[in-house]
Amino acid sequence: MPSSALRQAFSARIVAWQTTHGRQGLPWQNSRNPYAVWLSEIMLQQTQVSTVLVYFPRFLARFPDVASLAAASQEEVLGLWSGLGYYSRARHLHACAQAIMATHGGQFPQKAEVLQTLPGIGRSTAAAIASFCFDERVSILDGNVKRVLTRVLGFSDDLALAANERRLWQQAEALLPPPERAHDMPRHTQALMDLGALVCRVRQPDCAACPLQNLCHAQQSGQPEKWPVRTKKLQRKSESWWLLWLANERGEVWLQTRPQKGIWAGLSCLPVLPSREALIETVSTALAVSLPMEEMAAFKHVLTHRDLYLHPVKIQLKTAEMKDLDALPGQWFDAARWTPLGLPTPIRQLLGSGLAQPQVPLVAV
Ligand code: ADE
Repeated sequence: MPSSALRQAFSARIVAWQTTHGRQGLPWQNSRNPYAVWLSEIMLQQTQVSTVLVYFPRFLARFPDVASLAAASQEEVLGLWSGLGYYSRARHLHACAQAIMATHGGQFPQKAEVLQTLPGIGRSTAAAIASFCFDERVSILDGNVKRVLTRVLGFSDDLALAANERRLWQQAEALLPPPERAHDMPRHTQALMDLGALVCRVRQPDCAACPLQNLCHAQQSGQPEKWPVRTKKLQRKSESWWLLWLANERGEVWLQTRPQKGIWAGLSCLPVLPSREALIETVSTALAVSLPMEEMAAFKHVLTHRDLYLHPVKIQLKTAEMKDLDALPGQWFDAARWTPLGLPTPIRQLLGSGLAQPQVPLVAV
């Protein structure tokens, strides 16, 4: 457990530091509206502040409260999320709004313990909402905060093990402000986030600017970058997908909805086939004519756990060949109709000719 000196000083120091050196004036800060705080926390989980600054007001303008979000179609929610990536966040957001309407009378629960039972709200996000909006004395522990705390405490146990993470969580709770200072909770939480983002960086932490420097084990060791300790490495896999890009003379493209599970679940997409042979088989069944195929250069798209090698194959149909495509699920969409859909970023880039080419240099696979 943290020393009593650290327990005495920790929250008071970071709270004072946040007031003078932390981030101020972000649109979701100083809000006690759990809907807005929840939305911002979900967006900020895997997306930079500068991007969220664009998406957050747009989303709030369309869905100003939990009732309007719950009543929307999944398609529209995914459309507004388009470009933020990690679309399971948007599906959970929608499911969470519906759960709040159905089982909590349209009101956000005030306790982290209850918030955690809702779709897409983990322990740390629940703590962020409850501490920002309701002054609850609960600690967040996201990746940035793990770095801050393991360094201050000199916590060297492997965070790949759940039992060690649980112990770090207990220590985080031992460093909360005392009950009579529960009103410091919003600033305490924001201070942890800001220290991790601005000072206690992964590389080259700015220990000279840190309010905890003379209390910090890692700073005193002279090698702060040694923390946190985590052994498990992400297992990356790769897959090749063939993308069937059917276009007709009206300038429309054929799009399908992805299955509700797996990569790009629920998004609109060109038909995906597992091999070139499967694509040719699908084309000959669906169209019953053989047409020139434009095999475009393959490119790599990087997901969290997977590298996707995407192989677009374009087929331009003439009116005479536009029979019904009964064998192939999907519909024709013109640009005005596909633009607002939730589309994976590389598919949007591919369809929007004139837009940037896929981010990663093209590779032949
Ligand atoms: N990252 C996660 N939550 C945040 C917040 N409230 N402010 C800034 N960055 C964040």
